[in-house]
Amino acid sequence: MSKRIMYVCLCHGVTDRDIRQSVHQGATTMSKLCKRVGCGTQCGKCVAHVRQVRDLALAEINDRMATEARIGCRFHTT
Ligand code: FES
Repeated sequence: MSKRIMYVCLCHGVTDRDIRQSVHQGATTMSKLCKRVGCGTQCGKCVAHVRQVRDLALAEINDRMATEARIGCRFHTT
C-alpha cells in the first residue's frame, strides 16, 4: 500500500486515503461513499476515479478476509 496521498476529488479535497478509509468503515456503494465524503457531488469529474479507488479498497477487504479465512481454517484443523 502506498503511503503517498493523492487528491481524487478536487472540488471537495477528497483523497484516496479518505475514500479507502470510508470504504473500510462500510461505505461500499458509490452513493454511500459520495454522501459520506462529498466526492462526485459538484462537477462530477472525479466519479470514475473514485470508483477505481473504491474497487481497490474492496479488493483489499476481500483479500484480507480470504487470508483470515485461510488462517482460521489452519488454526481450527491443527
Ligand atoms: S472533482 Fe469531485 S465533484 Fe468535482
